[in-house]
Order: sequence, then C-alpha cells, then structure tokens
Amino acid sequence: MSVQKSSGELQKMHRACRIVVETLGALAEAAQPGVKTKELDRIAHERIRKAGAKPAFLGYRGYPATLCISVNEEVVHGIPGERKLREGDIVGLDLGCVVDGFYGDAARTVGVGQISSQARRLLEVTEQALHQGIAQCGPGRRVGDIGHAVQKHAEAHGYSVVREFVGHGIGTNLHEEPQVPNYGPAGRRERLVSGMCLAIEPMVNVGRPDVRVLDDDWTAVTVDGSLSAHFELTVAVTPEGPWILSEPYPYAEARHA
Ligand code: CO
Repeated sequence: MSVQKSSGELQKMHRACRIVVETLGALAEAAQPGVKTKELDRIAHERIRKAGAKPAFLGYRGYPATLCISVNEEVVHGIPGERKLREGDIVGLDLGCVVDGFYGDAARTVGVGQISSQARRLLEVTEQALHQGIAQCGPGRRVGDIGHAVQKHAEAHGYSVVREFVGHGIGTNLHEEPQVPNYGPAGRRERLVSGMCLAIEPMVNVGRPDVRVLDDDWTAVTVDGSLSAHFELTVAVTPEGPWILSEPYPYAEARHA
C-alpha cells in the first residue's frame, strides 16, 4: 500500500511535478521536424538540473537517458538517439524528476507539425481517458475505478488500452504500490485514502492492445504497428478529491497554499 503523504511531503511532490510538466511544455515546442530525439533529451536534462532537481529515469534499472521518447507505433520507453522527428509523427514524451527525495512523473504525446485527423483524435481521446481516471481519485473509491473509467472511455472511441504496463504509486520512489492498471472492473483493488499519490498513465492504441519490447530491451511497440499515445499525471488523493500535483491546489485555498 502506498505511503500516505503529509502536507509538507505533498509540497515537495508538487515542486517535482511542476518542474516535469513545465519541461514537457518546452519539449512539446521543441519537437519540430528535423530535430533529433537526443536533442530533446539534452533540453530535458538541462532544464531539470537548472531547476535544482535530479532526473528520475537516468540510471533507473540501467535506463540510459533523462527522457523517454516514443514515436508513432512506439508505446513507451523509447530511448533518445539520432532519430530525426518528421512532420506528421506523434511523439510520446515521458519525464520524471526528484526534488528533496520526492518524485514527480508525467507524460504527454504531441504532434510534429501537421498530423492526421486520426492521430489528433487518438491524442484527444487518450488525454480525456487520463482525466476520466483522475476524476475517480476521491477517498473511498478504489484503484479499479480508475482503470475502469480509462478503459471505458478509450474503448467507446474504438481504441484499445495496453495491459502490459500500468500506472503506479509514487513518492520517495518512482514506483510504489499500488499498481494502477488502465483496465478492469470498477469496485475492485485497493481502497483510495487521503495522502495517496498515484501516477496514472494510460497507453492507448488505435489497433490491437498487444505490445512487444524491441532488442534494445526498453522500447515497447504495438505488435500490429498501429499508432499509440501515452499521457501521464501524478495525482494526490485529498479529502476534497483529486489534486493533479503539477497544478495549484484546486480546493480550499489555505490548506496547501
Ligand atoms: Co510513470
């Protein structure tokens, strides 16, 4: 069971999450045709260091970069390198950092230049699915309610959700209990309690849900080669409801000002 965080600990996670999401904004703008994926990694690393934080993924289980960059049919965990982005690509940008020992983790998928209307729709639906999941994060709800809401939204639009990778508790480690699947029945799994922090991260495919990992031991791709999108935010369960930790506290002002 994920450790319940105090208000002071949530403040540290808030700082980490803000740095991550602000950096993702800069990376989204930098993701232009002709740019090498390793250049985006360099930008991410520099911004995180300048903000006084530490990259969370670099060295994690031997992962060799600050950022995960997953292009088109790549689902997650793509390694930055010499590849140049091309007009019409969709690019998953997944980033984590550590502030005073507390982690923030977030991802978004962006288009390079003009993208197809099908790709645009996939990005919209995946981001909406994430927010459907987040909306479940009130105390007394269950982890299964999150995945159920995500899956329902994605499948209602004819897409499939990836099963092999899941969201996770987060705090003084990048990955803590509980696992947060993006599918399954409501009303099951762990009960959500105030102070729990979860990284919710749906991966949604245009085609079949199946994925495989390439020979680099990291890059996950769709087996059928269909496009895939990934959005992730770190969320705290509060007595008032979900707090997306990269945003200001959305309820009564004084509590976490
Ligand atoms: Co994550």
